[in-house]
Amino acid sequence: MRRPPGRRSQRRDEKRGVGMRVLVTGGAGFIGSTLVDRLLQDGHEVIAVDDLSSGNRDNLTSAARSPRFALHELDIRDPALISLAAEWRPEVVCHLAAQISVRKSVADPVHDARLNVEGTASVLTAAQSGGARKVVFASSVAVYGRPEAIPVPGNATTDPRSPYAASKLSGEIYLATFKALYGIDYTTLVLSNVYGPRQSPEGEAGVVAIFTDGLLNGTPTVVYGEGTQTRDYIFVDDVVDGFARACGDVGSGGRFNLGTGVETTDRALHTLIAQAVGAPDEPATAPARLGDLPAMAVDPAPALEALGWRPRTDLTTGLKMTVEWARTRLSSR
Ligand SMILES: NC(=O)c1ccc[n+]([C@@H]2O[C@H](COP(=O)([O-])OP(=O)(O)OC[C@H]3O[C@@H](n4cnc5c(N)ncnc54)[C@H](O)[C@@H]3O)[C@@H](O)[C@H]2O)c1
Repeated sequence: MRRPPGRRSQRRDEKRGVGMRVLVTGGAGFIGSTLVDRLLQDGHEVIAVDDLSSGNRDNLTSAARSPRFALHELDIRDPALISLAAEWRPEVVCHLAAQISVRKSVADPVHDARLNVEGTASVLTAAQSGGARKVVFASSVAVYGRPEAIPVPGNATTDPRSPYAASKLSGEIYLATFKALYGIDYTTLVLSNVYGPRQSPEGEAGVVAIFTDGLLNGTPTVVYGEGTQTRDYIFVDDVVDGFARACGDVGSGGRFNLGTGVETTDRALHTLIAQAVGAPDEPATAPARLGDLPAMAVDPAPALEALGWRPRTDLTTGLKMTVEWARTRLSSR
């Protein structure tokens, strides 16, 4: 672990007129580490806070070479986070650390609330103690429940149907509360199904990572039900572009869907990944899982209007990059 980038380097960057100080929670995770790389590339100073519960130090290999980066191995609920923010004074806090599994949240709602509700309150308290201008928060399409219309508009009614969805929505409400209390600006980004390099095939969230892993290793892949369930797959570089934009003076107090608006069925996704891998497109089938949403896609138009954001990576290209990354990782083991 490196010390925070020092005050001297802060002054140097301020003089050059480049760079904000951005604190990224969950910065060793799949999306968080990609965001760290992007922010460093943009010339910012970055501290990642992560307890490495699902994140991975290897994700930060490239970031660790930068003198403008430090990782703090810390639980977001640890009071040390508040001291760290008070000392380092981040201008923006990007809050991505979370318990991310819907199924785990159903099995243990108290654990989910401890990480996602108490954790968010702690991060916001740190942002306030550090005098942050803004917090950018990673929410989820889970907050929409079973949407009435697809693609789901940005102003759709929320209907949380899992403790995970409830805890994400609670995070959104806390942002508004801290704005009312302390004037801290915020933007909520509602992420659809994010995929790309660094996503773990363990757990339930990353079906792209799960299919890629199985097809590269020649282990069975499973499509549930008729394979007609749809999701909206968004490439991780596009998602972090949304965060990078929201760190600026745009999207004040708003919530924006980051997705493509395009539905892809599980079966079609399997075919695309099998093609990218060069493997037979022959998934096993299993009965549909209880509680799985039949369809999801979100309307990203308001994000274009407010943040100038649009998805730029089509699914075939994004899957190709993901498969290449997974193949390289496999061959380096
Ligand atoms: N991946 C998706 O498709 C998706 C979709 C919607 C929303 N999101 C949200 O985006 C965010 C990032 O998700 P991801 O896919 O990169 O998951 P991830 O598991 O790779 O990243 C989460 C990171 O948070 C860290 N973390 C967890 N609890 C912590 C704690 N108490 N203290 C400090 N660090 C902690 C983990 O170690 C991990 O590095 C999450 O908030 C998630 O809910 C993700």
